Amino acid sequence: MKCIVPVVSGKGGVGKSTVAVNLAIALAQSGKKIALIDCDFYGPSIPTLFGGGKLEVDHEEKIIPPVKYGVKYLSIGFFLQNPDDAVIWRGPMFHKAQQQLFNDVNWGDVDICIIDMPPGTGDAQISLAQNMKLAGAVIVTTPQEVALADVRKAISMLTKVNVQVLGVVENMAGFTTSTGEVVNIFGSGGGIALAEKINSPLLASIPIYTAIREGGDQGVPVAWADREGTGKYFYQAALKLIEILDTNSTAGAEAVSIVN
Ligand SMILES: Nc1ncnc2c1ncn2[C@@H]1O[C@H](COP(=O)(O)OP(=O)(O)OP(=O)(O)O)[C@@H](O)[C@H]1O
Ligand SMILES: [Mg+2]
Repeated sequence: MKCIVPVVSGKGGVGKSTVAVNLAIALAQSGKKIALIDCDFYGPSIPTLFGGGKLEVDHEEKIIPPVKYGVKYLSIGFFLQNPDDAVIWRGPMFHKAQQQLFNDVNWGDVDICIIDMPPGTGDAQISLAQNMKLAGAVIVTTPQEVALADVRKAISMLTKVNVQVLGVVENMAGFTTSTGEVVNIFGSGGGIALAEKINSPLLASIPIYTAIREGGDQGVPVAWADREGTGKYFYQAALKLIEILDTNSTAGAEAVSIVN
């Protein structure tokens, strides 16, 4: 894997999984070899957002990840017998399982590996920064102050573990009613303010669309189903991210597992 890029946020429910999935598809459709790993062990979303997936095993007993929309993807959700089971693990088990998602899988040639992270600044984030050499993180935030306050905590954690911020995605930026009026349900301008403050590019500002939610629930994300319409914001983010990774020498370095 050449670049590993987690999608993070201090706060839950801001759209990390939606951004991770659609960004991965947009990157793949823009010509990159893409892997997507769901590291949200407590609430895996990728199985739903990708409409399921079937694992196979190769002759070396490594897992072959399913491929859909041009993306190789894997989720801890595929290993739970019952999709409604909760994973109740402590730090070390969690650390090991995370490594296995990288090491026991036949990923083949991958340019960019997008990781869907759980909310917060806990075990998953710290394990990942210790396990892998990361190219940098994409931060997702909604525009209002309460989300931004949590995002600042996430950024401070990333700084402590030496992970740079590659860019900011502002999600749920506004809703356009049937009469054309834009309602800023979660406020406005927070994403760009944050990007400027931390001197990092704004990759995209994504409005609220019913189609984005429905595409996720139905397992056919808009970056695939509505590329020119509601999916276009993810292509904007993908193109900017490719440019950033191409010009960033440390980000382009071969990602290596730093723990066995
Ligand atoms: N731009 C958007 N427009 C409409 N709905 C959206 C948008 N972004 C996300 N959603 C919806 O909001 C809900 C939360 O999104 P998502 O699951 O991606 O958030 P998350 O940050 O990954 O949550 P968690 O912290 O629980 O992992 C989902 O139902 C998703 O479909
Ligand atoms: Mg999620």
